[in-house]
Amino acid sequence: MTKQRVLSGIQPSGKLTLGNYIGAMKNFVALQHEHDCFFMVVDLHAITVQQEPAALREQSEAVATLYVAAGLDPAQASIFMQSHVPAHAELGWLMTTMTYIGELERMTQFKDKSEGKEAVGAGLFVYPSLMAADILLYNTNLVPVGDDQKQHLELTRDLAGRFNHRYGDTFVIPEPFIPKVGARIMSLDDGTKKMSKSSPNAGSFITLLDAPEDIRKKISRAKTDLGREVIFDVQNKPEVSNLMTIFAQCSGQTLEQVQSAYEGQGYGTFKKDLAEVVVQALEPMQSKYADIKASGEITRILRDGAERASAVAEVTLRNVKEAMGFLPRCL
Ligand code: AMP
Ligand code: TRP
Repeated sequence: MTKQRVLSGIQPSGKLTLGNYIGAMKNFVALQHEHDCFFMVVDLHAITVQQEPAALREQSEAVATLYVAAGLDPAQASIFMQSHVPAHAELGWLMTTMTYIGELERMTQFKDKSEGKEAVGAGLFVYPSLMAADILLYNTNLVPVGDDQKQHLELTRDLAGRFNHRYGDTFVIPEPFIPKVGARIMSLDDGTKKMSKSSPNAGSFITLLDAPEDIRKKISRAKTDLGREVIFDVQNKPEVSNLMTIFAQCSGQTLEQVQSAYEGQGYGTFKKDLAEVVVQALEPMQSKYADIKASGEITRILRDGAERASAVAEVTLRNVKEAMGFLPRCL
């Protein structure tokens, strides 16, 4: 049986958070052995909000390095920069022409990111069409993402179906792969908001490269609900439930195990232990990160990854263009 194709991407628009790790990267690592995997750093998506060039360069390298530090094996999975494979920008345009304005207006991520802003780039609006192109270029079966990407995945499926209907069977219809626990890690200062690397309050998120003392500080200051019992109840105790989810995901325990371990104990002990669990979960990644950075091997990994990705993407792009009626370059 041929392996299923898996593809996903993370934006280099800031430092990666524990949310990115638990919701997405952890699953990338878990899927790599049984599947044919492509993981990219989506720099073309990151520029949908203005990026400082030096910061974009630095963050792009950091995300690629973190992929490997988190356990992705470049021999198993192709790791590459989206901008190194020009087919993304090209199919992105073709998919933009397939997308209705009404569909894009319904995207909650666009509404959130544009709300109250005066000058919103058109790229932010057509972002989901580019994401659809990313996925469809690789005949992707499974897309591991956090909960916030569900709506974009639905649109990708609709666009693939629309294209196939209009121009003949061309695209594989992808399925989202969203974890049951940890698909939406919440902010440390507000249990109703997603943990996000673009939050102005650095105390609201933990980055994967935070020093142990910063992690301890952030967790000790994390908001907790009234009461003192460590009980999983998202409705009534969103903050504590979020911390329990982080505990479970970083320690490999179930939520039930975490809850029964802290029965009758206050938030203080729980938070102290949680900080150690997070520090320990991130420690191997952080030391590997430093090693990979020092070795300079990421350039070669990205070159190989882009080569493998281009080989697949170019075939799809050629088929798409032929199906749409573009004149081939060589007759
Ligand atoms: P982004 O940082 O927006 O490029 O997101 C990269 C991946 O991380 C996507 O699959 C997101 O769904 C996932 N992700 C981002 N923030 C969170 C979060 N707070 N909880 C769970 N998953 C997340
Ligand atoms: N939109 C995704 C996010 O913000 C990033 C992304 C771009 C992506 N292209 C993708 C995710 C393709 C999965 C597959 O998280």
